[in-house]
Amino acid sequence: MHHLEAAANTQYQISSVIISPMPAHDSFWRTIYTRRSIRAYSDQPIPRELLERLLTAAIWAPNAHNRQPWRFVVVTERSRQQQLAGRMAQRWEQDLLADGLDEAKARAQAERSRTRIMRAGALVLGCLTMREMDRYPDDLRQRLEWQMAVQSAALALGQLLLAAHHEGLGACWMCAPLFAPDVVRSALELPEDWEPQALITLGYPAERNEKTRKPLEEVVLWR
Ligand SMILES: Cc1cc2nc3c(=O)[nH]c(=O)nc-3n(C[C@H](O)[C@H](O)[C@H](O)COP(=O)(O)O)c2cc1C
Repeated sequence: MHHLEAAANTQYQISSVIISPMPAHDSFWRTIYTRRSIRAYSDQPIPRELLERLLTAAIWAPNAHNRQPWRFVVVTERSRQQQLAGRMAQRWEQDLLADGLDEAKARAQAERSRTRIMRAGALVLGCLTMREMDRYPDDLRQRLEWQMAVQSAALALGQLLLAAHHEGLGACWMCAPLFAPDVVRSALELPEDWEPQALITLGYPAERNEKTRKPLEEVVLWR
């Protein structure tokens, strides 16, 4: 009997939530089920080969026209990490103040974000480029083409997150670069056409996280 069938009747229990009958011993499903966003890391450095393996997982993602519109910046230099974290936090603090948040709260939130980025063992900034994507004369199709690049970059980063977990690393997606692309561009000296999409913080986990999901019935229509 195939091992998937053999396990079909066992309930797979993760984080005290019974998810569905799935093969607990199958490494693919275990990776899928047990990945969580990890935001606190130990000081242990991440070997470069391991980072290369994660990036390899990323570039094998499906993508629009196989133009591979993703680009990545791996940040491991402390000074660069510090610069990026500091400038993004500063921008966020300004935004929070402009939203009317009181000074102490704005500073505390920005400082938490800065510390988190600083404590990561490595950062991967995910970007997209439209350089090799199709060009359209009308705005609508051009926007949809751009959206395909966004989707491709997101798939790549999703695979990177799963690979990180599979390799024993913790990782978390941060959307901050979307809100401060100019800051990120200048801190990391990006090529002109690279559009920052997300920052992935990486490190050996120093926390466990519990999150669950809505049941399939709530999010799926069968027709
Ligand atoms: C598009 C996107 C943006 C996210 N932005 C942030 C963020 O800015 N900060 C953060 O701590 N987590 C962020 N996350 C992580 C989500 O909060 C997390 O994936 C979600 O709560 C589910 O938890 P899990 O990843 O542990 O299953 C983001 C995830 C995605 C996919």
